[in-house]
Amino acid sequence: GALAAPDLQSCHPPEDLPDTAADVSCCLTYRPGTAIVDFTPPPASSPLCVRPAAHLVDEEYLAKYERAVALMKALPDDDPRSFAQQWRVHCAYCNGAYDQVGFPGLELQIHSCWLFFPWHRYIKYMHASMHVLSVLPVLPREDHRRRHVRSAVLELDAPGGMTLPAIYADQSSPLYDERRNPAHLPQFTLDLDYNGTDDLTISRDQQIDQNLRIMYRQPDPGAGTIENTPHNILHFWSGDPRQPNGEDMGNFYSAARDPVFFAHHGNVDRMWHVWSGLRPGNTAFTDPDWLDASFLFYDEEARPVRVRDCLDAAALRYTYQDVGLPWLDARP
Ligand code: C2O
Repeated sequence: GALAAPDLQSCHPPEDLPDTAADVSCCLTYRPGTAIVDFTPPPASSPLCVRPAAHLVDEEYLAKYERAVALMKALPDDDPRSFAQQWRVHCAYCNGAYDQVGFPGLELQIHSCWLFFPWHRYIKYMHASMHVLSVLPVLPREDHRRRHVRSAVLELDAPGGMTLPAIYADQSSPLYDERRNPAHLPQFTLDLDYNGTDDLTISRDQQIDQNLRIMYRQPDPGAGTIENTPHNILHFWSGDPRQPNGEDMGNFYSAARDPVFFAHHGNVDRMWHVWSGLRPGNTAFTDPDWLDASFLFYDEEARPVRVRDCLDAAALRYTYQDVGLPWLDARP
């Protein structure tokens, strides 16, 4: 059967944290008596929001985004809309804080399997939804859904985007995280073949060229490969080697503590979106166990929502800034 949303009452300490990880809770806030609601997509008439490339955003955009993240971080940890709940939901779904409903002892896990794309589409979407916090309480409730999905994404496959975007480098910004690899701050070029050691002899242009060739290989044979590269590589490349487990980005439990996680997953989602567009006839997604898998998140009104079926980004009323796909011409 399809994966069901977890029972929020039955959270336990995460079962597969690395031994050297500090004590963390990955439990989501549980408020007795709060009903879980089914997620409803925004009305089809709402405008399509364009998620901008993080390396191209303007100051006005950046100010709004920083304000939203600062507000999420300022909320008490147990507020369902807080930044803390957003990184914990990732930990909960990766490190064994809940068992699958009806299968005691079987942990929730959304990596290395076909739930990877839909689950991460939603965590990014919910993070984007929290941006309304920056305009609350000015907007009437029905306007929330129309305003929320402009949330920057890394465009690592575009040459201009092959470093951590500068917006993540300002130490006084809420987008900053001190647990990152200090050698890989902007403008250090990403290496999509990173194995733990930087090749300091390669020029920026050569590195970009090599990355484009690696990207070219990704859409074929399809899903699974994107999870490994660029997804896992970027996690490993940006985590802090001075920490015991590559925290934050380099380990599942801690990854979403770094705000760059959400821009990274914007990019992964964009890859999925691009890939679906490159293969319009691809109707492989018909297995009900996949289509009916449901997950639980908190929404911007602090309600626990059950989400499922997110194959079409347009139905969620967002799309991506078009920066071209230079790797399509980079046959290795
Ligand atoms: Cu759930 Cu990028 O990992």
